[in-house]
Amino acid sequence: MKTILVTGGCGYIGSHTIVDLIEHGFNVISIDDNSRSTDIALSGIEKITGKKIKNYKVDLKDYNDTRAVFQENNDITGIIHFAAYKAVGESVEQPLSYYENNMFGLINLLKCVEEFSVAHFVFSSSCTVYGNPDSIPVTENSAIKEAESPYGATKQMGERIIKDFAHVVKKTSNILLRYFNPVGAHPTSFIGELPIGKPMNLVPAITQTAIGKLPKMFVHGNDYTTRDGSCVRDYIHVCDIAHAHTLGLQYLIARKNKTQCDVFNLGTGNGVTVLEAIKTFEKVSGQKLNYAIGPRRAGDVVAIYANNELAVQQLGWKIKYNLDAMMKTAWDWELKLKEAEDLLKQQSLLN
Ligand code: WQD
Repeated sequence: MKTILVTGGCGYIGSHTIVDLIEHGFNVISIDDNSRSTDIALSGIEKITGKKIKNYKVDLKDYNDTRAVFQENNDITGIIHFAAYKAVGESVEQPLSYYENNMFGLINLLKCVEEFSVAHFVFSSSCTVYGNPDSIPVTENSAIKEAESPYGATKQMGERIIKDFAHVVKKTSNILLRYFNPVGAHPTSFIGELPIGKPMNLVPAITQTAIGKLPKMFVHGNDYTTRDGSCVRDYIHVCDIAHAHTLGLQYLIARKNKTQCDVFNLGTGNGVTVLEAIKTFEKVSGQKLNYAIGPRRAGDVVAIYANNELAVQQLGWKIKYNLDAMMKTAWDWELKLKEAEDLLKQQSLLN
């Protein structure tokens, strides 16, 4: 059976995508150095699918270690590349670590794609490549503006590197998937978002505040030119994003013309403000959230949401989860985490 390599397989979107790939008949291995993840996700994947996933704890910035994975697995027919740093705010404070990690990892991986003739390459890109768009919703042909953060710049450069690579390496077909804001968790609550340290993204900040891990959260600005002054995003359930990767791979496997490098927006097409997201969370969880309005965050785009027609038409993508379900599964996951942490605390008290 052909193997799919998922880089960042212990991460949030990577782990959910592995579940979807397995459910659609693919054999999967993972590369994840666990610098921003733990292998807890692998046991969650096993609980959901019954499959034990082999993870190679390899830093993609180490070319020889990365190449060794391909030497050991000569049946890798496709790669889905998630492994990258992805916090907009953090990238503004630590640009060099973002450029080093995200670019060196991608280039080492593409060298292996060429050497080992991997047929299909799916790149985890982002709506941040659009910068602050002139008009919304954005289509795949919307202008690629100046990136608002080093994180966004690494995704713009990553796309350019892959397009130039696709031009010369004819045996590999490529697609770039531009996610909007992935949120929520698998409905079983066996896998979900596990931010290391203080959460930088909105939804984990909401759920950790609601459960009491954080005393309070701040809305980063309510003086933007939007309907309620807070930033607008296109929140999309992580399981919908995951399934789009399976569809993307199937699209590449079925597609004849290998030289193209297709781009797809993965968003719901609905723009939601930060304050609306908070209100939806309070509605579905029954929890009153302790938040205050704080200063703007450097690197934030004011408003963006997707025109997703291309992915719907070409990939046959059907979105299953609405905003209520995104917030409900995120909250169920946070509750499950607390249950596990309390159990661990009791056990350590007993031992
Ligand atoms: C969303 C909004 C914040 C935290 C993310 C990923 C990036 C990419 C795009 C996939 C902003 C506000 C946040 C908080 C807040 N996804 N916020 N208080 O910056 O849009 O980027 O989606 O590739 O990888 O990072 O997401 O969740 O950080 O912020 O007010 O405590 O919520 O200012 O307006 P962002 P985010």
